[in-house]
Amino acid sequence: MALDLSALVARHQRDPSRLMEILREVMAAEGHVSPPTITALAAQLGVPRGQVEGVVGFYSFFASEPRGRFRVLFSDNVTDEMAGSRALRERMLTAFRLEPGEVSRDGLVSIGTTGCTGLCDQGPAMLVNDRAIARLTPARIGAIASLIRGDVPLDRWPDNLFAIHSNVHRRHLLLSTPLAPGEAIDRALSRGAAATIEEVTRSGLRGRGGAGFSTGTKWAACAAAPGPDRYVVCNADEGEPGTFKDRELLSLHADHVIEGMTVAALAVGATRGFLYLRAEYPFLVAPLLATLDERRRAGLLGNSVRGAFDFDVELRVGAGAYICGEESALLESLEGRRGIPRNRPPYPVTHGYKRRPTVVNNVETLVAAAFVAARGHDFLRAVGTPKSSGTKILSVSGDVARPGVYEYPFGVSVRQVLDDAGAKDTQAVQVGGPSGVLLSASELHRRIAFEDVPSAGAFMVFDGSRDILEVVENFARFFAHESCGFCTPCRVGTALNARAMKRVAAGAGSRRDLKDLARVSQIMKSASHCGLGATAGNPVLDALAKFRPRFDQGLRSLEVLPTFDLDESLAPAREVTARDDEGAHFLHEETER
Ligand SMILES: Cc1cc2nc3c(=O)[nH]c(=O)nc-3n(C[C@H](O)[C@H](O)[C@H](O)COP(=O)(O)O)c2cc1C
Ligand code: SF4
Repeated sequence: MALDLSALVARHQRDPSRLMEILREVMAAEGHVSPPTITALAAQLGVPRGQVEGVVGFYSFFASEPRGRFRVLFSDNVTDEMAGSRALRERMLTAFRLEPGEVSRDGLVSIGTTGCTGLCDQGPAMLVNDRAIARLTPARIGAIASLIRGDVPLDRWPDNLFAIHSNVHRRHLLLSTPLAPGEAIDRALSRGAAATIEEVTRSGLRGRGGAGFSTGTKWAACAAAPGPDRYVVCNADEGEPGTFKDRELLSLHADHVIEGMTVAALAVGATRGFLYLRAEYPFLVAPLLATLDERRRAGLLGNSVRGAFDFDVELRVGAGAYICGEESALLESLEGRRGIPRNRPPYPVTHGYKRRPTVVNNVETLVAAAFVAARGHDFLRAVGTPKSSGTKILSVSGDVARPGVYEYPFGVSVRQVLDDAGAKDTQAVQVGGPSGVLLSASELHRRIAFEDVPSAGAFMVFDGSRDILEVVENFARFFAHESCGFCTPCRVGTALNARAMKRVAAGAGSRRDLKDLARVSQIMKSASHCGLGATAGNPVLDALAKFRPRFDQGLRSLEVLPTFDLDESLAPAREVTARDDEGAHFLHEETER
């Protein structure tokens, strides 16, 4: 049956900020958002056509051209590639006689790649029409190819294909302490909003999403911003490759996450909340909606929570853009726009969702906050280090015998995590994902803590059989794909680094490439608009510093002349940022051999 666009838009109250939800429904019904549909949506929502077109073009889960009725996307995250995803993809391409990204002539199938699907503990993984399938093997690929050939609708595929396993191997405070529904809310109500914020501040809780900002300070700033409307947003975008601990928290302890959001709402005076879930986790949608409903029925959400205040949470689903994990890009996305990071300041605590005061917190932060509200600040303070109280949940993947989720007190050594997960002959560990820190084997004594090696959760292990250049090349490719393109240093720099790393990893690089890689990475660090560009060069810089002999080994002796004027490419960025100092330039140097 043809999609009734008017009814769809009316169901979303003709609200342009609901454009993402509307587009998701169009994609589900028609497989793409055609140009006439874009025109019609723009007219019905009363926004410029370019706005709708821009959103469709921005998110990788939306498309304006027809794709296969079965859209197969293999994860090209480094751990999936290590587990053989390339060979499996080739196998499937050969089975259907297709090139990557090509749609079969009968419109049945298209096969491509996507970034990390958050299933690194059970890779290789793929998405078929946005539904996740893990633990791929040649036999599974054969079965999937047969189902596609038979044009069997996805809802009639065997359930076991879509099973996602839980792999929690070590529990500490957050994953083992019981918390009854409403327990934290009741304690926060009896303590009062200001005292709850004070308790969270005294606990030393720092954001678990990467930046490590004090949660109590953030809540206090939001509470102090002039009302009336305030919001709480749970950042469940979890797009950093190698991270899947929020997936486990949301599937095993969704109640604790919502409890944390409700405590935050009470503390800052918010009446509305959003849980922004990454699109790669569709298997969490139904259970999360069920948890929200259950809590409404129990008087823990909705009008008059515990007879004291109003707060409800809406589940919103992203559409495949890593940058939307950055809090201001996430807010743009929640408002129905492309995920382009905002200028900061002002910060979300004063100018967040719809420019109103908003708390944005990571899933794990909110769970920890719920426990602090229920058990007091000592619950976290008693564990960890003076500057990093409490525990950290790590997503361990790569060359280990037991990949999965491990919760440790802050201060645990990298070596301890490796021993527990059964790692052997470790050559390197990427902590915190591609934007984090690359550690060599001589640094395994280092500790997971804000004051030593911080981590948003990823812990990817590479043994002696891995080529570190291939790892860094994968990360460089990832950043080039995910750069939102808004600012020149990041747009150009990530593309240049990806190209140079491809040459170097293939043994066709030059000394000039290595110099450019270092220079471009430094420029991105200092001149990018947001954290993505600022951290995109980290793996290159770390690898150059710690694995230099491997880079030198891969150089070919012939001189490779630059094909692009790096300095010239940054002129527009210098103009926009009003910078013309040395750091904003690529210095012209003699091409080296
Ligand atoms: C490129 C980029 C991606 C990010 N992705 C995430 C993410 O997936 N989840 C998350 O919680 N924070 C992510 N962050 C950090 C958020 O911007 C923000 O600091 C965080 O949600 C705040 O919550 P917290 O204080 O509880 O950590 C990302 C930041 C950047 C720059
Ligand atoms: S640094 Fe990269 S991701 Fe961030 S705004 Fe600039 S182009 Fe976009």
